Amino acid sequence: MNTLAAQVVDSPGLDIDPRIIRRIENADHVILSGASSAGKSTFLYALRESHPEQFSAYQPVIPANWINEGMQDLPSKSLFHINMHRPIYGRMQSRPEYLYSNAAAPVTYEEYASEPVFKQFCKVAQGKVIALILLTPQAELVKRITERAVVEPRFEDSSKPYDNRTWSWVAKLQDMSETLSNWLRLLEEKHIEPVFVDSRDGKFVLLETIEEAKQSVTDGQFRLTEDDIKQIWTNEPFEYQRISDLVEVNASNFVQGDRTSTSQEIFKSDFTDASVLDVGCAGGYFCFEAEKAGASKVVGIELKDTRYRQALLTKRITGSNVRFERTNLYDLDSSEKFDVVFFLNVIHHLREPMRALELLSRITAKRLYLEFPTLTDHKFLSTISFGFWNKLLNHVPVIGVSLEDEAGQTFVFSQSAIERILVRNTAAFSRVEFVQSQIPNRLIAVCHK
Ligand SMILES: C[S@@+](CC[C@H](N)C(=O)[O-])C[C@H]1O[C@@H](n2cnc3c(N)ncnc32)[C@H](O)[C@@H]1O
Repeated sequence: MNTLAAQVVDSPGLDIDPRIIRRIENADHVILSGASSAGKSTFLYALRESHPEQFSAYQPVIPANWINEGMQDLPSKSLFHINMHRPIYGRMQSRPEYLYSNAAAPVTYEEYASEPVFKQFCKVAQGKVIALILLTPQAELVKRITERAVVEPRFEDSSKPYDNRTWSWVAKLQDMSETLSNWLRLLEEKHIEPVFVDSRDGKFVLLETIEEAKQSVTDGQFRLTEDDIKQIWTNEPFEYQRISDLVEVNASNFVQGDRTSTSQEIFKSDFTDASVLDVGCAGGYFCFEAEKAGASKVVGIELKDTRYRQALLTKRITGSNVRFERTNLYDLDSSEKFDVVFFLNVIHHLREPMRALELLSRITAKRLYLEFPTLTDHKFLSTISFGFWNKLLNHVPVIGVSLEDEAGQTFVFSQSAIERILVRNTAAFSRVEFVQSQIPNRLIAVCHK
């Protein structure tokens, strides 16, 4: 046993590392943060029980109480109790049907920054503020959550039932190390010093470095059971792409968006060690396929929250290494190149398609796959009254202006328009081949550098 562990165990009734106590003594206000069931209330209880003369003045400021009481001033010494997954509760309330993907996606920096209680706390907290971050390995957290019955057994009305269902899925599915990075980013911005605390096995032990902190949350990863996976595939309302064939589960709700034929077209080329960017990746289907085909680095970007979160959910289930980002394509950094870029069925939703094409051609090192609706697209035809001519128009270099409110589209393109834009007029690519998409009246342009 190392000295520190010996110290902790040797102090009867005091399971808090003395170095943590010293950090608290030197602070005016303490943020006590961690996942649900990481041991925040137990920590506070142990602190007050073990050092009543020093810490009885620490009033717990539990966010919900604070809002109810409209608290404006803090006591001279206070302890602000915050569940690091609190923003996920907001997601659950606004979109409860997306339980699993809401749980899987890390809390973002923006979500933390817009937490009203945290903003208010930062406004009124004077003096030195530190943030204790309680970290527990995933498997232990899941066990504690499953066994817990009430919300705050020590500090609140103990008859309030604990939401085991939500919090156990959060604990099972979260990428805690990314959530931790986002929390740290916000603390740094507010000049709040983080103090990492390993809270496993009922002890509170100081961790000196961020690496140790990340290690302690990735230790003891919880393995999803077959039943867990089946529940997710059956109940999550996946959007757009059919991805059930990624796992061996027979889930009947994956009927829409079969993208296999586009996939076959794309993956007949060699992807060994390629870097791949999928722009507007939805649930990440093509990213996972690229990874399976041997790509060494795969990044999927998606604007829509629900789809981005579903991509992360599938990543957690399949143990994939794809990186997903919730990003607008116009914000991509053009200095980072990818061998292959997928730009599939996105262009007709954009207000500035030329800007997007120009940006993506700068990012593409070898091939760009562009799947797009042509002038015979049925949604486009529904917005005009002389569709009869459109078959002919597909042979001339024209761009169709669709109607966003009726068809949900901006522009559609003829084959020769795309060819002129990408090869003849800009020389962004040396040649383009066109193949029929499985989606009627769409084409796939394979653009070579
Ligand atoms: C029709 S889906 C196509 C999904 C996938 N590429 C495929 O072909 O199966 C278009 C996707 O592009 C995303 N998208 C639209 N505009 C975007 C933008 N500016 N930046 C990133 N993603 C965008 C949408 O949210 C949507 O998920």
